[in-house]
Parts: sequence; C-alpha cells; structure tokens
Amino acid sequence: MDHFQLRDGTLHAEDVPLTRIAEEVGTPVYVYSRATLERHARVFREALRGLPRVHIAFAIKANPNLAVLNVLSRQGFGADIVSVGEMKRALAAGVPAPDIVFSGVGKTRAELSEALDAGIGQFNIELEEEGVALAEFARANGKTATAVLRINPDVDAGTHAKISTGMKENKFGVPIDEAPAIYTRLAALDGLDMQGLALHIGSQIFDLGPIERAYAKVGGLVGDLRGAGHKIDRVDLGGGLGVPYERGKVPPTPADYGEMVARVTKDWDVTLMFEPGRVIVGNAGVLLTRVIWVKPGVVRPFVIVDAAMNDLARPALYDAYHDFEAVEPDGDRMEANIAGPVCESGDTFAMGRDIDAVQAGDLAIFRTAGAYGATMASTYNSRALVPEVMVDGDRFAVVAERVMPERLIDAEHVPDFLND
Ligand code: LLP
Repeated sequence: MDHFQLRDGTLHAEDVPLTRIAEEVGTPVYVYSRATLERHARVFREALRGLPRVHIAFAIKANPNLAVLNVLSRQGFGADIVSVGEMKRALAAGVPAPDIVFSGVGKTRAELSEALDAGIGQFNIELEEEGVALAEFARANGKTATAVLRINPDVDAGTHAKISTGMKENKFGVPIDEAPAIYTRLAALDGLDMQGLALHIGSQIFDLGPIERAYAKVGGLVGDLRGAGHKIDRVDLGGGLGVPYERGKVPPTPADYGEMVARVTKDWDVTLMFEPGRVIVGNAGVLLTRVIWVKPGVVRPFVIVDAAMNDLARPALYDAYHDFEAVEPDGDRMEANIAGPVCESGDTFAMGRDIDAVQAGDLAIFRTAGAYGATMASTYNSRALVPEVMVDGDRFAVVAERVMPERLIDAEHVPDFLND
C-alpha cells in the first residue's frame, strides 16, 4: 500500500496534489511519501516480530537522501553502507554509529580505517586480506573491530543477472567451502572480533525458495563453525525482497519472508540482521514528469517526457518496468512508446505500452521509483541533477535541490596550459 492515489481526478502524494509540486518545484522531480516510508518500515519490523533478536539496517544504496534516512532512523532502523560517503550520510541523518554495518566488496584501506575511527557496529568481511588489514588498523589504534564473514552460498536468486550476487561466479563473499578455514584464521587475529556470518544473494527476488536454500546452507555452516569451537553470535541475512513494479505480479510479502526466516533459523540462537532496501523505499517514491511532445511514430507514437535515463536509469540498465500514469487521467487510453530526451535509443521507458492517454504539457508519474532512482541519477547530456521532494500530510519540502548545469560547470576548470 502506498499514499500515491487519485483524488477528485488528480493524483496526490498523501494530501498534496502532484500538480502543485510540479508548479512549485518543476519537473522532473522525485516525490517521496513519509507516511508510506513509515508504513513500510513498520510492516517489515512487524514481519520479524516473532524472531528473538533482530537488527534492521536499511541498505542506504537504495535511497541515501538525508530526509529519507532520517525518517527510517526514527523508525529504529540502522544503516547498511557500502562506502564512507554512505557512512557520512547515515551519521548526518542521525543513525548511531554502532547501528551501522559496512558491506561492500571493495572497501579501501582508507575507508576501513575511517569507519573504524567512527566506531561503526560491524564490518562484513568479503575476503581474507580485508580482514587482515582491518585487524592491523584496529591493533594499531588499540581497538577491536567487530566483524562477520560474508559467504557466497552459490545459489541462483532467480532475478536479473545484473542484480544477482550469490552465485560462485559473482564477485561477492567467500566460497562457502573455504569459509571454515578463512573464518578460523580471521578469528585468531588480535584486533578482530569475529561474531558470525553474512550473505546477500541478490535483489528484486520474487521467489523465497532460493533465499531459503541459501539461508539453510549458512545455517549448516553456523553449526560447523560452532562445532569447531567458534562463537557465532550473529548472522546478517542481507536484503533482496522484491516489490511489485507491475500490477498483477505480486512478490512474497514481508510476512511470508518473516515466517520463512523464523522456520529456517529457529535453532540458530543468534542475532539476526537484515539489510532491506527496495522493499522499504521502492513504492514510497514516484518520479513526476511532464510530457514534452507526443511525436508521431511509424508504428506508434512516442510520448517524450522530460525525465530521462539519467534521472531513472533502471529501464535502460535492467530492462526494468515502471508503471506510467497520467496525473490527471481523463479515462482514455493510448498505445505508445515512452522515451526521454537523451540522445540514445536506450533512453526508453516503455515500448508499445497501453497507457493513460496524454498530450504535450500533461503531467505523469513513473511509479515505484523510490529505490535505486534518484541515487543512480547522473547529469548525462548536461542535464540538471534531478531534485527530490518529501510529502508529509498536506506539507511538502524540497529534500534535494535540482543541481543546475551552472553549478556543475563551476566545478570544472580549463587549465592555463591549453593556451600554450
Ligand atoms: N545488502 C547488500 C549487501 C546489497 O548488495 C544490497 C543491494 C542490499 C542489501 C539491498 O538489497 P534490496 O533489499 O534493495 O534488494 N540498482 C539495482 C539494485 C542493486 C542492488 C545492490 N545490492 C536496481 O535498481 O535494481
């Protein structure tokens, strides 16, 4: 459920007509609903209610906007980060350092050391050398780093290849067969407090089967490591739950997921950690856009909107589907291609789609754009960086400004030597 609904013929975000946001902020613009964010956070938390010890760290990569993080931090969510930039955002948004988990396959030495200084709660180690380097930094600073070892369970998540992470040919985690030996060597290092395991097999997962198989494999490893005398206190189960981009395609609910987790982990006796991203923010955001032209096409018309692949990259990158709806639909339909102004054929949001009939000047939205939307935006074609707005009841605020080309040009320099 989300709070982007038609009221008196006009799409609203909570109590704010999207026409008002377009007038005051311009388009394209991302619009988030605070009530939807809070609802999703609550639903996810409640789905895990039956589990004994739980830590939820929102995967910041899905939406790192400070206002969004602030809302989620107030809901008791920690943060899953993959860079020091994300760490700075989490801290700036009020997430306590001990609630921050540092994932990521390529943490630099500088990042490890900065995160250690900041006192974050957990490092998810991706390879043995990373653990060794972290232990060295910790010893040199008289500290102990709390860490878990990320396992690659070699399970196909059944999602798009570019967002699958849990197969042996993927770059993530250590092979499950090698994990006991690596864990044993890391656990022996001063400066490192190895507390358990982590995994994450992919994103936009629609089938709980592969997740369950991966968790079961890790459960086996928990037993083996304990049998070898290791303390296993926590397991980080990652993120990955899918969201409904297309009507009629319904993913497992957080409650289904919670029941599966309870069943698989019932004998583990650990703190279970979660890193949800998309499922929390995906449907809490839309991309509001204006139709520039309806261009006649040989096969069907092209609806050319003022949002483009630089604002919402998912269709170009993953062939992703985002629902398109007129802000003031008149009930008529049309079959059209939807494209942006960028000079690439890949700047296409949909081909041959049955949509609300629109004309030049009309407003429309792409739904389910709150996850991996604004954060993946660029300024390609020297377009402005897309702004973000948060709605709360009948109020709204710009929570990220439109960064105009002038500001980007100011940050560039033509060196004097070009005059030589
Ligand atoms: N934890 C780790 C270690 C991850 O790599 C990810 C996502 C998550 C948690 C959160 O996964 P989620 O719950 O959001 O599925 N840009 C792509 C998605 C990339 C996901 C990367 N990792 C897209 O737009 O579909």
